[in-house]
Amino acid sequence: MPLVNTKKMLKEAYRGRYAVGAFNFSSMETMQGIIEACSKLRSPVILQVSKSAIKYSGYTYLLKLVEAATINCPYIPIALHLDHGDSFEICKNCIDQGFTSVMIDGSDLGYKENIALTKSVVKYAHSKEVTVEGELGRIFGIEDGVKVKKEDSFYTNPEEIEDFVKKTGVDSLAIAIGTSHGVCKFANKQKPKLRFDILEEIGRILPEFPIVLHGSSSVNQEFVRIINKYGGKIPNAVGVPEYILRKATSMSVCKINIDSDIRLAVTASIRRYLAHDHPADFDPRGYMSVARESILNLVTHKIKAVLRSENKI
Ligand code: G3H
Ligand code: 13P
Ligand code: ZN
Repeated sequence: MPLVNTKKMLKEAYRGRYAVGAFNFSSMETMQGIIEACSKLRSPVILQVSKSAIKYSGYTYLLKLVEAATINCPYIPIALHLDHGDSFEICKNCIDQGFTSVMIDGSDLGYKENIALTKSVVKYAHSKEVTVEGELGRIFGIEDGVKVKKEDSFYTNPEEIEDFVKKTGVDSLAIAIGTSHGVCKFANKQKPKLRFDILEEIGRILPEFPIVLHGSSSVNQEFVRIINKYGGKIPNAVGVPEYILRKATSMSVCKINIDSDIRLAVTASIRRYLAHDHPADFDPRGYMSVARESILNLVTHKIKAVLRSENKI
C-alpha cells in the first residue's frame, strides 16, 4: 500500500474511540521496531520526523526507510508526517518530497499570524492531498531544541478553536491541556493532571474533529532506573500516566505523539547491554539489536495499553 494521508485513519479512530500512534524516528532501527509492532498487531501508524531529525538523517535516508516500511508491510496504513514544521517553506519541502501529512506549528505567533501561516500551508497541502495539523495553545517543554518556559505556556482557549479550524481549514489540531515535551512533565510531587474540562468543551464545540495530544510519553520508571543505574543522570523524570491517556483517547484525541519513551527505551537497553551484560562487545549490531527489540516491545505495549489501535485493519 502506498503512503496515506491521515484523514481516513483519524476519522476512523474518532469513531472507534481509539488513537493512532505518531512515533518519531530518525534511524533504521527505530523505524524497524515501530513498524514490526504495528504490523504484528495490524495497527495503523503515523511515522513522524522533526526538523532536527531531517537535519540529522537527511530527506533521502528518511524517505527510503519509509519506502522500505511500505514494501515490507503492505497491509498497514502508514502516513509520513512532519512534526512541528515552523515555516511554510519546510512544510512545502516535505510535501514536495512525498510526505503525506504536515504539522504547521504557529503556536508561538499571535492568533492572527498563526491563522495566516496555517491557512497558507493548508492551501498548498490540500492541493496535493496532504493533510495538515495545526496548533492552538502552547505546549511547554523542549520543542526541537527550543525551550519553551512553563510561564510562557498557555492552554488552548476553546472559544478560539471553532474560528481557527474554520478559517484555516486544518484537518486536525494539537492542543495544550497540560502535557509537555521531554521527560519532566510535572513538577516534583505534583499529581499528573490534564485539563479534561478544556478537552470536553472542544469535543462539544467541534464534534468528530480529531484532536492531537503532543507530549504523551508516560516515562517508564524502570527505564529511568536502568539509565541512572548504569551511568545516566536523569532526575525528576515523570510522564503522563497511561490511564490519563486512555481517558483522552476515549474523548476526541485521535493522534498521540510519542518520542521520549522511545528515546528512554533505546538508552536504557544500550546502557545495560554495554555496562552490565556485554562489556567486551564493540559490534554495534549487538546493542542496536537490543535497542530495536526494546522499541518493538514498547510500541507493542502502547498499542495494546494506551492507543487500543490493534486489529483495526
Ligand atoms: O516535539 C518534539 C519531538 O520530540 C522532536 O524532538 O526535535 O529533538 O527531534 P527533536
Ligand atoms: P514526548 O516528549 O512526550 O514523547 O512528546 C513527543 C511529541 O510531542 C512530538 O511532537
Ligand atoms: Zn510535539
